[in-house]
Amino acid sequence: MTDKVKLILYSALLISFGIYSGFIYTQDSNIQPPNVSEALAGKNMAAKNCTACHQIYGLGGFMGPDLTNVYSAAGKGPAYIKAFVQAGTNVMPAFNLSETELDQLVRFFERIDASGKADPKNFKRNLNGTIEYK
Ligand code: HEC
Repeated sequence: MTDKVKLILYSALLISFGIYSGFIYTQDSNIQPPNVSEALAGKNMAAKNCTACHQIYGLGGFMGPDLTNVYSAAGKGPAYIKAFVQAGTNVMPAFNLSETELDQLVRFFERIDASGKADPKNFKRNLNGTIEYK
């Protein structure tokens, strides 16, 4: 390649880069971060009150079941979670939380549920060593 061709090529690339960058940086982006403040409040509540007995992603206390996917589990969900928290059982204490706090807890369980599948008991081990969600 002659020097002249190289110069033209590099200039063209440089100019396109400039135009494209300008275009990207001046575009009005509508990407909004998700509103996580409710879920964060719920997370703090769960860390303080629940994980001594319950696991999230398999980590936590082992007195109660893993709660990672309790939000979407068949026959469970928001009302089910609230009922356990409000009423307790003979081994789980009842928590006296306001409706707002219960909603924050539920938002937290909704978000961790959306982040993946967890309870190790729900995975089966294949013969080739891989695991699969049941
Ligand atoms: C002292 C231990 C303990 C604490 C603290 C505790 N739990 Fe539990 N929880 C249990 C046990 C044990 C069970 C299993 C039900 C049973 O045997 O009564 C349970 C069951 C549940 C269930 C039903 C799970 C399922 O898959 O059916 C939910 C939902 C739940 N707990 C939510 C919570 C939340 C939310 C908190 C915190 C606000 C919490 N628990 C705090 C012990 C606890």
